[in-house]
Amino acid sequence: MEISGHTKVACLIGHPVSHSFSPYIHNFLAEEYGVDLKYTCFDVEPSKVKEALEGIKALGIIGSNVTIPHKIEVMPYLDEIDKNAAIIGAVNTIQNKEGKLIGYNTDGKGFVHSVLNEGYTLEGKHVMVLGAGGASRAVVVELAAHGVGKITICNNTLEKAEGLAAQVKENFPNVEMATIPLTVGSKELAGVEVLINTTPLGMSSRKDLSPIGDEVVPPTDLVVCDIVYTPHDTKLLKWAMQHDLKVVHGIGMLINQAIASFEIWTGVQVDAYEKVYELLLAKGVITR
Ligand code: ATR
Repeated sequence: MEISGHTKVACLIGHPVSHSFSPYIHNFLAEEYGVDLKYTCFDVEPSKVKEALEGIKALGIIGSNVTIPHKIEVMPYLDEIDKNAAIIGAVNTIQNKEGKLIGYNTDGKGFVHSVLNEGYTLEGKHVMVLGAGGASRAVVVELAAHGVGKITICNNTLEKAEGLAAQVKENFPNVEMATIPLTVGSKELAGVEVLINTTPLGMSSRKDLSPIGDEVVPPTDLVVCDIVYTPHDTKLLKWAMQHDLKVVHGIGMLINQAIASFEIWTGVQVDAYEKVYELLLAKGVITR
């Protein structure tokens, strides 16, 4: 679609942003759904976050993604923050709604959608989450909001897991919460129905690492999810496949968080997961 006087703009703010492939996804979705919108990236120095958000308002930019290191820093400058984003304590999506900036977090929602899209259910399930950092917070809060039965958070630094568990319990009292150290064996996995890695173990330079030892024997009906998407088949997912378990790849969360942002900005209901996946393959961003 040609740029004209009517064309709207959405953007990413982060530091750095040059590695981002969000422009591929959002510009593709705009073309696909006939939305007169272009998406571009702005490298914003940490000292310029406030000015950048004022710029979004002044220029009428319809929405923004927010990435490292600004996901927390943007929050004081927003007019409203969605309830779950406030609990997560980070914003990755801003909507400019008639001059008011509203903050959302679509990371955890993107993860939940990636599991549901594979045909698995989460309601009432016992879910084990490995890691208690920023990504874990987004995933755990949305799992609780979705109505899982129990969440066990495993982390090396146990206090971080305990802090997150207490905060989730306060906001979602129906969800049973537990915490254990990140030394997960066959015994700890007994009764777990969904296992999710949110640590960087298994990611590119650490691709030979897994949060679960090779010798661990999982329950036979366990669904294993990794939010690491490079490589596509992480060591954890290979272990799961060797045990004939169902798996959910990390790319699903990545694509679905972007789709959720696009839906917030445009009001369009997107049904184009496969097309976006093929686009990222064609761009060489991901490998099968
Ligand atoms: P992100 O935003 O990607 O979640 P983060 O907030 O730095 O990144 O969180 C990283 C998580 O992975 C943390 O739970 C961290 O454990 P600690 O809280 O104990 O530091 C975990 N993590 C990072 N490197 C790890 C490693 N080598 N082994 C096990 N856990 C690791």
